[in-house]
Amino acid sequence: MLSKPFNFFICFLFLFTVPNSFFVKAATSNVDLIQQNWPFNGIFGRFDKASLQRGFKVYSEVCSACHGLRHISYRDLEGIGYSNDEIKVIAGEYEITDGPNDEGEMFTRDAKMSDKFVGPYENDKIARLANNGAYPPDLSLIVKARGGGADYIYSLLNGYKDFPENFEASEGMYYNEYYPGNQIAMPPQIEDDIVEFDDGTIATHNQIARDITSFLAWTAEPELERRKSLGVKTLFFLVLITIMLLGVKRKVWKHLD
Ligand code: HEC
Repeated sequence: MLSKPFNFFICFLFLFTVPNSFFVKAATSNVDLIQQNWPFNGIFGRFDKASLQRGFKVYSEVCSACHGLRHISYRDLEGIGYSNDEIKVIAGEYEITDGPNDEGEMFTRDAKMSDKFVGPYENDKIARLANNGAYPPDLSLIVKARGGGADYIYSLLNGYKDFPENFEASEGMYYNEYYPGNQIAMPPQIEDDIVEFDDGTIATHNQIARDITSFLAWTAEPELERRKSLGVKTLFFLVLITIMLLGVKRKVWKHLD
């Protein structure tokens, strides 16, 4: 028979290691999500930096036309392996409205490392006007904000199909298997070779969907690796202390058995 503390410890370990997707069903439609084996899932989860950099390229060249990333600053890109000089060049490509200056006027200037990502639209109204009345949500936290997390985003990007017969489609909408109600205002975004990856990876539809999803998982939780390594250290400490306490308990109770 196993001792009680040991059983407790096994339950504890189970809770830590079971992937989130075990508990989370697609909160959105009845179709099962496409399940991917993400390197950032699980107790020892880590981001694949090369994939994050490719995902950043997809965001910059495709998604940023309509979606902002307002919780991420250019400086945060250090976390996916860019040097300060590279980040200065990236930030310098954007203009930001700042001010007021000493004359009380607003002015534009190049973005700096400390600025948050510059969004595509000046305000929500303009965003809706440009998108058939729909609002393209900020993507910084989208992986956390949707049931199914990364698997949902990946499935959504792969979920475009022709409208089934007899489906009452609204004007300017697209059919997507994984979107609630199956009609989405976002046109299909990904196709083979829509970007060219700097590291020579072939830009297939699936590769692009996987890389942008990984990048968005990072924007939703840039601290993930630190949190997980702290978790592992804590577990290790708990194992040690359990073993020590068991030893002490045996010693103290030895004469009373
Ligand atoms: C042409 C503009 C446009 C581009 C480019 C675009 N989107 Fe969208 N996106 C939208 C709009 C509009 C919506 C809101 C859809 C709706 O409400 O029906 C949306 C919604 C979304 C959603 C939220 C879905 C949900 O469950 O609410 C995600 C995730 C998303 N887009 C990801 C992306 C990614 C990733 C890219 C780049 C590969 C991208 N989008 C590029 C316009 C765009």
